[in-house]
Amino acid sequence: MLPTGTLKDRVAIVTGGGTGLGKAMALEFARLAAKVVVASRKLENLEQTVKEIKAQGGDALAVQLDVREPAQVDQMVSKTKEKFGKIDILVNNAAGNFICRAEDLSVNGWRAVVGIVLDGTFYCSRAVGKEMIAQGTGGNILSILATYAWTGGPGTIHSASAKAGVLAMTKTLAVEWAKYKIRVNAITPGPIDTQGAGQALLGSAEAYKIVEDSVPLKRFGQSIEVARAASYLVSDYSSFITGEALVIDGGQWLGQGHYVGELERMMRGGSQ
Ligand code: HXC
Ligand code: NAP
Repeated sequence: MLPTGTLKDRVAIVTGGGTGLGKAMALEFARLAAKVVVASRKLENLEQTVKEIKAQGGDALAVQLDVREPAQVDQMVSKTKEKFGKIDILVNNAAGNFICRAEDLSVNGWRAVVGIVLDGTFYCSRAVGKEMIAQGTGGNILSILATYAWTGGPGTIHSASAKAGVLAMTKTLAVEWAKYKIRVNAITPGPIDTQGAGQALLGSAEAYKIVEDSVPLKRFGQSIEVARAASYLVSDYSSFITGEALVIDGGQWLGQGHYVGELERMMRGGSQ
């Protein structure tokens, strides 16, 4: 774990900070002494995160918004400045997802997911980036990807296409904004045990087990494991890293060669 004062005097915005990975990152940043703004549609979830941060001695603000609405994104920036005076960190974590065959996906379904993940990430990065450039003190932007940005994502074409766009955005902004000392990175989680992902992508205990078995480390990841890596990437400890996308997936996306199922058993000559 990083020392408790690692993010002292830093102001961080976490979109989707009322649930799952966003909440875990918000709590961990606050533990490291950052002031945190959590922003999404459901105010009751955001207020719960703020309550928990305040209970551990931190300071936080809830801002209701839909990241697909540029005017609401601009308001999030104004409210953050009003409350905390500046912005040092943005985490683009908000996302939408559901399983659907490409040929069955409606135009609205495509737009909903691409609007949240790709457009929303750009609107937030643009609004916060402009503020960071004006402040002249640098900053950190971190986006949350998924490994299917590289591999393709059968069953989730909207999310895979949008995450691939966010990967390109990460590398593009890393170069464009390096001169302003703004570092732009990403985290690529594998299966992490959150309620949101479970509801959107895993309907049953059987599906859960199949995914678990596909991970060489044979388990789902935990939100805190992502939150700790996020804290490192938005802190000064990672000061020479930009344009990077750190995979945290227990090895799930690596080729498994003969170390899979029946093939592994055959390779061992039938013995365990
Ligand atoms: C087919 C669906 C659908 C489904 C919605 N739609 N759910 N189509 N199958 N399961 C269609 C609707 O019919 C509609 O199209 C269109 O999508 C918009 O739906 P709305 O409900 O009006 O959209 P909205 O209220 O904007 O909600 C967005 C959402 C929703 C993405 C659809 O699920 C949401 O808000 N999710 C947020 C939480 C979430 O998904 N978290 C998971 C993140 S985990 P029509 O044509 O009928 O009008 C994650 C893991 C990544 O990303 C990688 C793991 C490996
Ligand atoms: P989650 O709890 O469902 O998180 C999604 C968050 O996005 C919610 O807090 C939601 O809040 C917010 N959100 C959705 N639409 C929004 C909108 N239009 N405007 C503002 N906020 C919106 O799921 P999670 O697992 O923690 O996912 C977090 C991130 O990790 C996502 O980027 C996801 O793609 C990524 N990821 C997760 C996994 C996994 O296995 N868990 C794997 C790979 C990548 P509201 O409903 O309040 O708006």
